[in-house]
Amino acid sequence: MRNILVTGGAGFIGCNFVRYLLEQSSGTEVTVYDKLTYAGRLENLKAVSERFGSRYLFIQGDICDAEKVEDAVAARHIDTIVNFAAETHVDRSILDPDVFVQTDVYGTYVLLEAARKYGNLRFHQISTDEVYGHIEGRRRSVENDALAPRSPYSASKASADLFVSAYHITYDLPVTISRGANNIGPFQYPEKVVPLFVTNALESMPLPVYGDGKQMRDYQFVADHCAAIDLILRRGRIGESYNIGTGAEMTNLAMIEILLDELGKPRSLIQHVEDRRGHDRRYSLDVSKTMALGWEPDYTPEEAIRATARWYRDNRWWWQPIRDGEFKDFYRANYAGRKKLEPQ
Ligand code: NAD
Ligand code: TYD
Repeated sequence: MRNILVTGGAGFIGCNFVRYLLEQSSGTEVTVYDKLTYAGRLENLKAVSERFGSRYLFIQGDICDAEKVEDAVAARHIDTIVNFAAETHVDRSILDPDVFVQTDVYGTYVLLEAARKYGNLRFHQISTDEVYGHIEGRRRSVENDALAPRSPYSASKASADLFVSAYHITYDLPVTISRGANNIGPFQYPEKVVPLFVTNALESMPLPVYGDGKQMRDYQFVADHCAAIDLILRRGRIGESYNIGTGAEMTNLAMIEILLDELGKPRSLIQHVEDRRGHDRRYSLDVSKTMALGWEPDYTPEEAIRATARWYRDNRWWWQPIRDGEFKDFYRANYAGRKKLEPQ
């Protein structure tokens, strides 16, 4: 029996991963440990709790709270920690970086210490392609590239990666790291670009495109990311990092064309606005190392965008209360003062 602590399991990727794990392997028990910030929602795990109640438990807690983390690890006989818990939105990190340092850096350190104290537990860190920074020309990032983060969010994630590697080297902690490209799919808080633009379009509101909209991202379906993480947990080489994505990036404008087409909404909703500070123009991952473990994504970016647009169209019950709540304050803070730009 594997006894896995999934931190941040009430968030977007975490809740999809928990369901994936419980569906895939009957020999796995999962404890979700989550603070339930604005981004963490128990309803994301409702179906999991109803279906897998005997193999699943939820604990509300902060990964910065060492005592509570250690209590959870001991009480649940945890043998593996998978750390999804983080502050995750670049725009929020620009508005207020403090909590990013707390959770993403200090919180990861607390989890590493707990893993060390309880017998060098298996530790997997969920990281991001953003730690490599903006990638020039046609180059793709490989796992041993130098980290060059450029936003408070990516700097905090890169710092966490360095701690995870340092615990492997110094204490022989059995760690792996995965660096994922942009995930999309069910249960993503509608602040990230695809669910934001889909829900804005469904409300016939403008889509605020930063700058010229020619920035490049690799949009992967969340289920593909979850499958790769599970494989790395089982077959990844200890001490190594793995990139996860489709390996095919597209411009934000191309992504918008696809989602507007899927929803039958007009291009006139596109509104170019003042760019994000320090905006990374391109991320691009070489994913061959992860594919060599025996994984490949089921969805192309276009299929992932279309499937995501349909999920939000069909699940207004999930996102409407979010958009009516805290989201409104964030939207005002991030968008109200932003200059509108001429069509480009
Ligand atoms: P999310 O914002 O949807 O969820 C984050 C979860 O962490 C929430 O449930 C929140 O309540 C929890 N959390 C936050 N602070 C916490 C704390 N101090 N203690 C305990 N729980 C806390 O994020 P997501 O998009 O699901 O991302 C999950 C992980 O994947 C993050 O580490 C992120 O950096 C990484 N990642 C995300 C993407 C993406 O496109 N979303 C891509 C690559 C990597
Ligand atoms: P985002 O979903 O925030 O992810 P990332 O962490 O990769 O930046 O944004 C994805 C891309 O979409 C990125 O190039 C910024 C752009 N973007 C907009 O143009 N407008 C928006 O309102 C948002 C949130 C993002």
